[in-house]
Amino acid sequence: MAEQLPYSEKVMDHFTNPRNVGEIANPDGVGTVGNPVCGDVMKMFLKIENDTIVDVKFKTFGCGAAVATSSMVTEMVKGKSIKEALQITNNAVAEALGGLPPKKLHCSVLAEEALRSALVDYYTKKGLAVPFEYKKHAHQGETCL
Ligand code: FES
Repeated sequence: MAEQLPYSEKVMDHFTNPRNVGEIANPDGVGTVGNPVCGDVMKMFLKIENDTIVDVKFKTFGCGAAVATSSMVTEMVKGKSIKEALQITNNAVAEALGGLPPKKLHCSVLAEEALRSALVDYYTKKGLAVPFEYKKHAHQGETCL
């Protein structure tokens, strides 16, 4: 019997062929978040017009799951309104990838946080109040809380 890979085909696809990698010149919002446990870092760039995310790019220095979740998040939010994008949770991203091994679920938190952090930057740059709650998640040892 063939050995079962811990990652779904979709995770492997987005890891080996990530979508929307790169930077956006003069972005409307940029967010950088890091996972203090593993040291992985994710940077997300947004172009926003009329409250709609018209373009999104990312750079991730991290594990395969972090790259795959970043890639999937960019696909899920492109063309969406900010309000719709904020409904996307890390669990929804993991689900869209066909699931992640439990030990790797924390990597998807990074993608959700990078998006929110970029949106905080967008509102701050415009001098507007941030219309959602934003707090980075905490860690206990090697586990996300
Ligand atoms: Fe660091 Fe996945 S191990 S984000």
